[in-house]
Order: sequence, then C-alpha cells, then structure tokens
Amino acid sequence: MKKSIIRGSGFFVPPHIVTNQDLTEFMDTSDEWIRQRTGIHQRHWITKEDACGASDLATQAARMALDKAGWQPNDLDFIIFATLSPDIMFPGGGCLLARNLELDSTPALDIRQQCTGFLYGFATADSYIKSGLASKVLLVGAEVHSSGLDKSTRGRDVTVIFGDGAAAICIEAVDTDENVGLIASALHADGHFADTLKTELPASNLFKRLPDDLPIDDPRYYPVMDGPVIFKKAVRMLPKVTMEVLEKAGMNLSDIDLVVPHQANKRINQAFGQFLKLPEDKIFHNIEKYGNTTAASIPLALHEAIETGRIGNSGDVVLFAALGAGLTWGASLYKFP
Ligand code: ACO
Repeated sequence: MKKSIIRGSGFFVPPHIVTNQDLTEFMDTSDEWIRQRTGIHQRHWITKEDACGASDLATQAARMALDKAGWQPNDLDFIIFATLSPDIMFPGGGCLLARNLELDSTPALDIRQQCTGFLYGFATADSYIKSGLASKVLLVGAEVHSSGLDKSTRGRDVTVIFGDGAAAICIEAVDTDENVGLIASALHADGHFADTLKTELPASNLFKRLPDDLPIDDPRYYPVMDGPVIFKKAVRMLPKVTMEVLEKAGMNLSDIDLVVPHQANKRINQAFGQFLKLPEDKIFHNIEKYGNTTAASIPLALHEAIETGRIGNSGDVVLFAALGAGLTWGASLYKFP
C-alpha cells in the first residue's frame, strides 16, 4: 500500500527581525505583556525594500526542501499551497510558486485553512498519493502577514502575534506494508465561529467589493480576533482531536515522541501538554523566534525539530495539532520510516 513519506523540509523567513520592543514604537504594548501572554520575543517581517508575496517566501522554502529531498522542481507531480495571505486575490499562490520554480504544467492547488493549512494540506497530499494521482508532492505553507496588519493600538492583540515566513515539505509515495508515513488525520471545521477571527475586505458578498469612500483605516481591512474565545476553544479542542486521531491510528499518548503543534500562543501549547499529561520536553516550541506564521508554523517547527535532531529517527512518531480561523482544527500522526 502506498504511504506518504517526508523526503525533505525547508523554510525561509525574511531577514528583518521585529522585536517586541520595536512594536512599542507604533502601538501601546510592551515586551513584558507579549512575552507573558504569548511567549513571543520577536518575529520576522518583510520591509519596504524586500517587499514580496507569500509565493516568493514559499519559493525559497520549497527550494531548500527540494534540495534536501534531492529532487528537481520538475520531479514534482503536485503542489499544494496553504496560505491566508495570498500575493493577490487570484490566481492562487500555488500557480505563482510553480511559475517561480519554472514549471509550466504541474498541477497546483491552493488551500485556505489558515493555521490548520498544513494538516489539511498533508491529508490532501496523502489522499492524492493513496489514490495514485500523485507520487511526488510539494506541500508549502507561507504567509506575509505584516503588510496587512493594523499597526495602531486598535490592532495590537492580533498584530503582535503574527510573523511572516514559509516552510515546505516534499512528500513521496512509497509502497510498503509497514505502518509508516502519515498514519492518521482528524480534521474539523465550524463556521459558526467564523467571526472570531477574520479579515472582511475586500468582500464579494458586498454589492461593491471595495465600497466607495471607505476610509483607508476601516477596521474591516484588517484581521480582527476574539482572542479569549479562540484560546479557550484551542485548549479544549486540541486534546480532544489528539485523542480522536490516536484512536483512529490505534495508538496511545505514550507512542508520541514529539508534539509539533501550531505556534499560536505558547500558553495554549503548554496547557495542551498539561492536559495530555505529557512531559514539557515532548512539546516543540519556536514561537519565541517567529511568532505565529499560520500555515507555515507547523512545517517550520517540524523542519527545526528535524534539523536539531529532536525527531526524525526511524520509528519516531510525531503528532501535529492546530486550531485557527474558520474555525478549523485537527491533528495528524506521522511515523518516520
Ligand atoms: N499589548 C498590551 N495589551 C494588550 C495587547 C497587547 N499587544 N493586546 C491586548 N491587550 C490588552 C487588552 O486590551 C486587554 O486589556 P483590558 O483588560 O484593559 O481590556 C488585556 O490586554 C487582556 O486582553 P485579552 O484579549 O483578554 O488577553 P489574552 O490573555 O486573552 O491574550 C491573545 C490575547 C494573546 C490574543 C490570546 O487571547 C490568544 O493567544 N488567543 C488565541 C490566538 C489564537 O490561537 N488564534 C488562532 C490562530 S491564528 C489564525 O488562525 C490565523
């Protein structure tokens, strides 16, 4: 039976670092508040000089992942691109990424599942692989948040958490009877909570997508979030979906070698770990360096966990888990071959 095996990973963040202290220059916040409430120390943001789209960050991450896999771009037979901050309204970032990789017919699919993008993307790649539709898949998560944030005090709860970045994995179809690769996924969405984290404009549900005479600082242009509601949801749903995916896989908590969760808030992941009664060193964190890079967050953390030797030996089991805008949430289990 065909299994989905990770052959390489890569990442890219724009070089410019924005510290918490830097943010205090344009909004009422503090290093202490941000560290205590989120665990974030800094994030990377594009600058006016190196302004680019999510697909450009994705290209760099993809090239690193392809190198690690020993693949050329034209080895790929499918591209999945996860983002909530596409370069332009359309066409999708997957097509722009394929263009950057000088591909001219490889199928490219965009998915808009925000923080859960990697989980939905991996499950989609796995379905293509298991059905025989693809055998070498590039899955990328990439975000340029910084160009669309409300950098006044009004937007501080959202703006301080978001960072720009991209990360990618190369996934190969391997015929084996061993229980390896993507073992199980559990995915959910509940649109009743769509308003708890959203950017409204431009909106095709309006008579005019960009209403006349709209002030440039209209809050609907910017992401708004009901942070406490999402926080509580995350702390409740992440353990639940973990138990669900473990049951699907016929595994136990003790089978997990490392949890690589979405990096939205360190306190969420600590509470998640405590609820599962997992030792602290079984939860991977890198939010302090990058903030919340949304669709890029899990593959970026995975890449660092592999590169630093935290995970990746034959038989190691990693749990991915995320909750974000949609609301969408999910978990998946991957076993290294
Ligand atoms: N600096 C200083 N003070 C702030 C800031 C800031 N950056 N942001 C908010 N505050 C203030 C608020 O105004 C409020 O002040 P008040 O008590 O005078 O009214 C106070 O701090 C507490 O605000 P809360 O929103 O209750 O703070 P909380 O502890 O919940 O932390 C946070 C906010 C960090 C956003 C948290 O709620 C959170 O992480 N939520 C979940 C985020 C998440 O997981 N999102 C999903 C993923 S992102 C995606 O899908 C795209």
